[in-house]
Amino acid sequence: MKIGAVDLPSPFAIAPMAGMTDTAFRRLVKRHGGCGLVVTEMVSAEALTRGIDRTLEYAEYTEEERPISIQIFGGDPAKMAAAAQIVEGMGADIVDVNMGCPVPKIAKHNAGCSLMREPAHAARVIAAMTHAVRIPVTVKMRAGWNEEERNAPTLAKMVEDAGAAAIAVHGRTAAQSYSGSADWDLVARIAADLAIPVFGSGDCLEPEQIIERLASGVEGVLVGRGVLRNPWILAQAADLARGLPPRSVTLEDRGRFLLDYIGLLLHERVREAPAAPAEGRSHDRWVINKIRALGSWYTKGLDGGSQLRIAINSAQSLAELRDLIGAFFLASASVA
Ligand SMILES: Cc1cc2nc3c(=O)[nH]c(=O)nc-3n(C[C@H](O)[C@H](O)[C@H](O)COP(=O)(O)O)c2cc1C
Repeated sequence: MKIGAVDLPSPFAIAPMAGMTDTAFRRLVKRHGGCGLVVTEMVSAEALTRGIDRTLEYAEYTEEERPISIQIFGGDPAKMAAAAQIVEGMGADIVDVNMGCPVPKIAKHNAGCSLMREPAHAARVIAAMTHAVRIPVTVKMRAGWNEEERNAPTLAKMVEDAGAAAIAVHGRTAAQSYSGSADWDLVARIAADLAIPVFGSGDCLEPEQIIERLASGVEGVLVGRGVLRNPWILAQAADLARGLPPRSVTLEDRGRFLLDYIGLLLHERVREAPAAPAEGRSHDRWVINKIRALGSWYTKGLDGGSQLRIAINSAQSLAELRDLIGAFFLASASVA
């Protein structure tokens, strides 16, 4: 499939997840295969245009992640156009606009999902961006703001007319946050109505569900929490799409993933650390917090997962964390 002129090797993608889908995580998922697109964590257009270093770090990516989409949030057409130009200058393949974030801190600034409440303004944002850059501009939205305002079908058409090259729809309202279930019928109706590719998002926790959703008429599926629980899920969906059984993932594979993640994180965001002498230790703390954040998803559904989660959350050093991972995931492998 294609988004504008950008070829995607697979219709399955890692959904953007703030705090989770950093470059290290995306690289590891991508290496397993089956992943056609990765999207960065959301980045503030305001901060991008002001050149705030920390914001630029959220947008960092490596060549092996291509095609790469950088997601920005904001509500001012001129600023969003300027931010899109910065994203294009950073070499991204696609710039994505967040119209789905329900968090008040974002929504109150007329960004994220609150843009859905002003569809004409949202369309102006997209028009300003598509005039400013050559790379495709895409939009990620929810079903609507609340039950009374489920306007994704209307907004989708408006942003298509404004020049968006693809959209993604998470079939819940902002008011629902993550409760209830994603409305894939709504997503399918939007896909049938639009000429541009439509991605669906929501509640794919097993590779079989990704294949079922693809069959509902969308061109692609964005998988969020399912990837945090099982980073192989896109590769397994690709196996199924080829008529093969989904590859099996051993406990050892799962342990190695965490150790590899730690290994990559040690080279990321090194600027987060204050000056020496505490430098090394402070960066370790950042890595530990990243593993804790992933651990809360990654341990779900595992035998003994909740004990592991508690142990990860109380680990005080990387050495302790590595030992825990070794004992839980790799002990039987090294004995065998
Ligand atoms: C921890 C977390 C962070 C998220 N951050 C973003 C984000 O930055 N931008 C965005 O468009 N969606 C974000 N989402 C929404 C996901 O991209 C996705 O649409 C949603 O989780 C539904 O898909 P899932 O059921 O496969 O997780 C986030 C979701 C989670 C769980």
